[in-house]
Amino acid sequence: MNDTFLKACRGEEVEYTPVWLMRQAGRYLPEYHAVRNKFTFLELCKTPEAAAEVTIQPVDILGVDAAILFSDILVPLEKMGAPLEFYEKRGPVFLEPVRDRAAVERLVIPDPEQDLGYVMDTIRILRRELSGRVPLIGFSGAPFTLATYLVEGGSSKNYFLTKKMMYTDPELYAALLDKITDCTIAYLKAQVEAGAQALQIFDSWAGVLAPCDFGEFAITYVQRIIRELKEGGVTVPIIYFANNGATLLPQSMTSGADVIGLDWRINIDDAVKIVGRKVSLQGNLDPIALMLPPDKMEKRIQNILDQAKGARGHIFNLGHGIVPEIPPAQAKFFVETVHRLSRRK
Ligand code: CP3
Repeated sequence: MNDTFLKACRGEEVEYTPVWLMRQAGRYLPEYHAVRNKFTFLELCKTPEAAAEVTIQPVDILGVDAAILFSDILVPLEKMGAPLEFYEKRGPVFLEPVRDRAAVERLVIPDPEQDLGYVMDTIRILRRELSGRVPLIGFSGAPFTLATYLVEGGSSKNYFLTKKMMYTDPELYAALLDKITDCTIAYLKAQVEAGAQALQIFDSWAGVLAPCDFGEFAITYVQRIIRELKEGGVTVPIIYFANNGATLLPQSMTSGADVIGLDWRINIDDAVKIVGRKVSLQGNLDPIALMLPPDKMEKRIQNILDQAKGARGHIFNLGHGIVPEIPPAQAKFFVETVHRLSRRK
C-alpha cells in the first residue's frame, strides 16, 4: 500500500513528499463531466457506485497519493432537516434558512448509517476498489462554516446574519453550533468505521472572523469534535484546514488536529515558526499558480519544499480547492513535479 500520505500525517520518514489536491474530483476533469452529466450534483453524491468512480478518477489520472471521498460538506445538513438544492450558477441553497429558536429546535441529529448510508456505502466501495493503492480521506465541514450556510441560506458576502446571531443571541448561536457539532462527531466516526483512513475538517470561511470571535465561536467546536473522536477511539490522522487562516494559526493549533492545512497567504517556514514540530503541515500552492509555465511552476514547488524542510511532516497540496478552469495536464505536471523534486536521494 502507498502509505506515504499517512506517514507524513504522523510525521514519519517518507521517500518523497505525498501530494493530493483539495477538490481533486471535479469539474476541471472531462471524465468528471462524463459521469456528472447523468445526474444532478446531489444525486451523484447519493449514488455510491458513481461517487466512488469520480473519487478514483484523480488517482488514475493525476497519480495523487490520497483519494478524498466524493460528497459535499453540506450533505449531512440536509439530513438534519434542512432542505438543500444545488443550482447550476448560484451554488448551494438552503430553502428554509435556520434563523430562530424554533428552526434550531427542529433540527435533528441524523443516524449516519441509516440516514447517510449512501456516504458509508461509497466509502466501503472505495476501500474495496482502491484495494490499498492509496489511503481514503473522509471529511466534514467545520461547525462555523456549516452554520454560515444554514443561517445565510447559501453562500454569503458579509456573513451578516450569522454574525448577527453570534453577537445578538449567543445562546441561540451556541445551540445551533452544538447540534451541528453533535451531528459532525457521529458522521465522522461512522466514516472511520466504514473505512476512512484519515479525516479532513474544512473551515472554508473561518478567515472572515476576528481572532477573538474565531476563539469563542468557531475553534471551540472543532476542539470538541477532535477531542470526542479521539476519546471515542478514532486513531486515524485528522487534518484541520482553516481557509484564510494564517493569522489564526496559534488558535488552530489548539484544535487537537494532527495536521494543519495552510492556504497560500503564508510562507510555510513562517508557519513552522508558529507550530513547531507538534503537527504536520499540508499545503500550500496558490490554486491559480497551476497556470504557471513549467519552469516557473518547478521553482515555486521547490521553494515550498525547501520551506517545509523544518516541518514535522509535509503533505503537498493547493492552498484551497482546484478551480474548473485548470487544464488537467497542468495538474498532472504539478503532481509529477512534487514527486520528482522531493524524492530523497
Ligand atoms: O475534494 C474533493 O474532490 C471531494 C469532494 C468535495 C466537494 N465539495 C465536491 C463538490 C469536497 C471535499 C467539497 C467540500 C466543500 N463543499 C467545501 C469546503 C472546501 C472548500 O472549497 O472550501 C465547501 C465550502 C463546499 C460547498 C459547496 N459545494 C459550494 C459552495 C459549491 C458550489 C460552488 C462550486 O465550487 O461548485 C459546491 C458544489 C460542489 N461540491 C461541486 C463539487 C465537485 C460542483 C458541483 C457540480 O458538479 O456542479
